[in-house]
Amino acid sequence: MDRVIEVEGLSKTFRPPFRTRKVEAVKSVSFTVERGEVYGFLGPNGAGKTTTIKVLTGLIRPTAGRVSVLGGDPSDIGVRQRLGFLPEQPYFYDYLKPSELLDTFGRLFGMERQARRRRIDELLETVGLSHVRQRRLRKFSKGMLQRVGIAQALLNDPDLIILDEPMSGLDPIGRKEVSDLVASLKSAGKTIFFSSHILADIERLCDRVMIIDKGAMKSSGKLDDLLSGGHLEKEAMVSGKADTTEISTWPGVVRVEAAGPDAARVVCASDRSNEVLGRLIEAGLSVNSLTDKKISLESLIMDLAEKRDVPAGGEVAR
Ligand SMILES: Nc1ncnc2c1ncn2[C@@H]1O[C@H](COP(=O)(O)OP(=O)(O)O)[C@@H](O)[C@H]1O
Ligand SMILES: [Mg+2]
Repeated sequence: MDRVIEVEGLSKTFRPPFRTRKVEAVKSVSFTVERGEVYGFLGPNGAGKTTTIKVLTGLIRPTAGRVSVLGGDPSDIGVRQRLGFLPEQPYFYDYLKPSELLDTFGRLFGMERQARRRRIDELLETVGLSHVRQRRLRKFSKGMLQRVGIAQALLNDPDLIILDEPMSGLDPIGRKEVSDLVASLKSAGKTIFFSSHILADIERLCDRVMIIDKGAMKSSGKLDDLLSGGHLEKEAMVSGKADTTEISTWPGVVRVEAAGPDAARVVCASDRSNEVLGRLIEAGLSVNSLTDKKISLESLIMDLAEKRDVPAGGEVAR
């Protein structure tokens, strides 16, 4: 079985008490996650990420649609035993030490004492917390707490790990720690599904992504493909005395920008790039490079999210 998650036409509608209006948190979302992938689930706050994750982990039932996780129903005990989950805001009792906390969860999983001990040692090593195993959680940084949460999600040696906003609220060092950990889990052959509203985290880690906004799926696929916009445009870097105003009138040329005193960036339609390059060379310019033009993930999301307010700094509003 290569499809670890299969979701088709998933919808979830909440009917909050004392309110007449229902909330369509997720609207007909479909996607699949393959074994061994790191799959990113990206969208601003309120987009429907946590709701989808709750369905995937069997915490709530969908209003409509079909959901298969590890080949079964998320509420099956057999499925849950092979699933690791880090909730959005895990709460840990401050006075516990990481080893005590993990031991409690291990007992919940019905692990034997010896096995528990071995596994906890191993996990504290994996998440880089062996040296603070006897320190109380209240003295931990947010990044360290998040790593304890991930260790908890890994206790049962799951095949699939679902993390809800694992990097949220972390400083750059904490974010790097968590993303290095995700990368090492991937090398260990795990399938990882994680949500984030932070573009850089997704960009660095994910094989494929899905973008969701206001409950609706906006786009999904390989990050490279989404960012290439289907490779519709190419970008040529040229040097020499370029008449940018004239070049911009050539057929196939989308835009020309000066890139220094004797250099220019010429963006042209991919299917006319040969013709444009020929003319550039004829005009006495040197073509130094020709690449597929990529759009930034941030601008992609801005386009998809239809003029939602996005603050500077590459983060979609929380
Ligand atoms: N239990 C609930 N009852 C009513 N509305 C809810 C409930 N859970 C989530 N919502 C609403 O559903 C929408 C999506 O929320 P959520 O899935 O938490 O988004 P995200 O995780 O992307 O920030 C929001 O408008 C939220 O207020
Ligand atoms: Mg959420």
